[in-house]
Amino acid sequence: MKTVGISLKKLKNEIKKDFKMARDLKGLNDVFNKYLGKHDGELNRILRSLEKLPKEKRARIGKEANKLKEYIKQKIEIKTEKMRLLTVPVNKKEWFDITVPGKRPLFGHLHPLTKIKRKVEEIFESMGFSIIEGPEIENEWYNFDALNFPKEHPARDTIDTFWLKSNHLKLLLRTHTSPVQIRYMEKNNPPLRIIVPGRVFRREATDASHEINFYHLEGLMVDKAVSAANFKAVIQEFYRRFFGKPVKVRFIPTFFPFVEPGFQVDISCLNCQGKGCSACQQTGWMEMMGAGMVHPNVLKNSRLNPKFLQGFAFGMGIERLVMMKYKINDIRLFYSGDLRFLQQF
Ligand code: PHE
Repeated sequence: MKTVGISLKKLKNEIKKDFKMARDLKGLNDVFNKYLGKHDGELNRILRSLEKLPKEKRARIGKEANKLKEYIKQKIEIKTEKMRLLTVPVNKKEWFDITVPGKRPLFGHLHPLTKIKRKVEEIFESMGFSIIEGPEIENEWYNFDALNFPKEHPARDTIDTFWLKSNHLKLLLRTHTSPVQIRYMEKNNPPLRIIVPGRVFRREATDASHEINFYHLEGLMVDKAVSAANFKAVIQEFYRRFFGKPVKVRFIPTFFPFVEPGFQVDISCLNCQGKGCSACQQTGWMEMMGAGMVHPNVLKNSRLNPKFLQGFAFGMGIERLVMMKYKINDIRLFYSGDLRFLQQF
């Protein structure tokens, strides 16, 4: 019986060694099979052979052999757990190199139109103007009638305007932000000083300088004695701040139904400072926007009394400003979504 006793001790040392050698789950499984495998596990064989021993020895050795069995089972449990935590399944397809530099996320930034719109807003705000918005879907009254457009004015044509199919009200996509003048004057008492940035729509063929959808910035100032001279001062100061250098301004008489008198506003060419170059077609001037003194009918339509009140209004295209500032030659680029263009700003 001594032999069994000794062999149990030896066996435990052997088991310990085997556990040390087992590097992975498969190794642990091998250890289990070697000693506790159903048919040829060494420890199992010993346990099976116990019945041949005398009673007392059987009990003592049986107890020790069972202890050893427990020892193996526990050890396997603990080691399996440890290995599970440590071993990531080594599957070649899943393997990746954590030292390879990652893909850099693309950082977005504001669209050049938004940037310039904000800059323009900032300048006018600093001069006391409030920023007001209005609806993009308008009705005929606000877009045309209230602004003193005669009934037969060509701008109302479906050739120029996107009319919407609607039952009663004649709805359309606003062709300018001027209708917000009316909406604002209806609800607020002078003195008024506002700018209205916003999207406008015109039904026209697109080319390098025309889009069916673009951005306008309307301006309106109304009080008891607001004059064209006030307008000139405001607008000259605006351009000076916007372009970062003094510019000359000139007014040329023109017609808009909602102003009287109406003017086209030109500034001295930024390229040649008025000397004449190809950018200004040798004139030395660049056409910038439409403006004028608010027509008395427009004041009346907004329930203000033209006997006591007067003011100026102006409207400029934001695209045009951006194109001049950055020397962009095609308006369609703004809406192309082309990153090669956008990433330059
Ligand atoms: N609404 C005009 C346009 O569509 C611009 C403008 C605004 C002109 C205000 C005069 C006064 O171009």
